[in-house]
Amino acid sequence: MSILTPTVTTCTTTSHDPALLSAPHWGDPVAELHGVTKVYYKPDGSVLVEALRGVDLTIPQGQYTAIMGASGSGKSTLMNVLGCLDRPTSGEYILQGQPVSELTDESLSHTRGRKIGFIFQAFNLISQLTVEENVETPLLYQGVGQGPRRKRAIEALELVGLGDRLGHRPNQLSGGQQQRAAIARALATEPVILMADEPTGNLDTATGEAILKLFDELHAKGMTIIMVTHDDEVAERCERVIRMRDGLIETDVIYRHRRMAPAD
Ligand SMILES: Nc1ncnc2c1ncn2[C@@H]1O[C@H](COP(=O)(O)OP(=O)(O)OP(=O)(O)O)[C@@H](O)[C@H]1O
Ligand SMILES: [Mg+2]
Repeated sequence: MSILTPTVTTCTTTSHDPALLSAPHWGDPVAELHGVTKVYYKPDGSVLVEALRGVDLTIPQGQYTAIMGASGSGKSTLMNVLGCLDRPTSGEYILQGQPVSELTDESLSHTRGRKIGFIFQAFNLISQLTVEENVETPLLYQGVGQGPRRKRAIEALELVGLGDRLGHRPNQLSGGQQQRAAIARALATEPVILMADEPTGNLDTATGEAILKLFDELHAKGMTIIMVTHDDEVAERCERVIRMRDGLIETDVIYRHRRMAPAD
């Protein structure tokens, strides 16, 4: 099959198929979901919503994946499970070989801090802190000392093109610069997976394009990226497009040719 031919799967449980998971630059699985459900209950214990209804999914190291689907289909719920912000109701989540169900709440939160970089639609920067302090914050929680903390924050900010804005406060930055600062904060911890829920949703087209270019560059350097988007043009830059429907994966399409050339 030509590498330009997308591999299309239209069912819920094929995402472990090895044929779907091979590309020269993809490594071992970093995230595996097996039959994951997420149920929200009413106060009386009856089921309110089945937000995830048995998701099987394997994300190999280095893959750039888009998650799409209608509002309420379970995208953010899936991201929250993958990002260790929430636990499955049933099923198994294995993050870098470690079953998340075996972790205490404390080690889960530690794992999240070490392995996951989260970028939200609203940038969630702390307005009282400078850009550099914002980027240092997750490292502070990890107990990284002041010198290395500063070094890593500056490196991350230089990577996103904000090396000359270290002392600015978030309200002294443009929207795109704020989002780049949020990306630097997510990168400073050197995460295993970079997760973004509608990262360009609050940005104008040109600024959104600059952010997506940054994602392309990170991907070319080997970063594993999972991004929720409603925008087909944004998803077109990804190597894999997963569409959710009613708490299940409806389609899962691989585009191996979308590998970006290394940036340098
Ligand atoms: N904390 C919660 N308590 C109860 N129900 C919830 C909760 N969070 C999400 N839901 C429900 O779970 C379903 C999936 O929600 P989710 O936020 O994952 O959707 P989504 O695909 O991200 O939608 P959107 O595109 O609007 O962000 C929805 O029906 C939602 O109402
Ligand atoms: Mg959502």
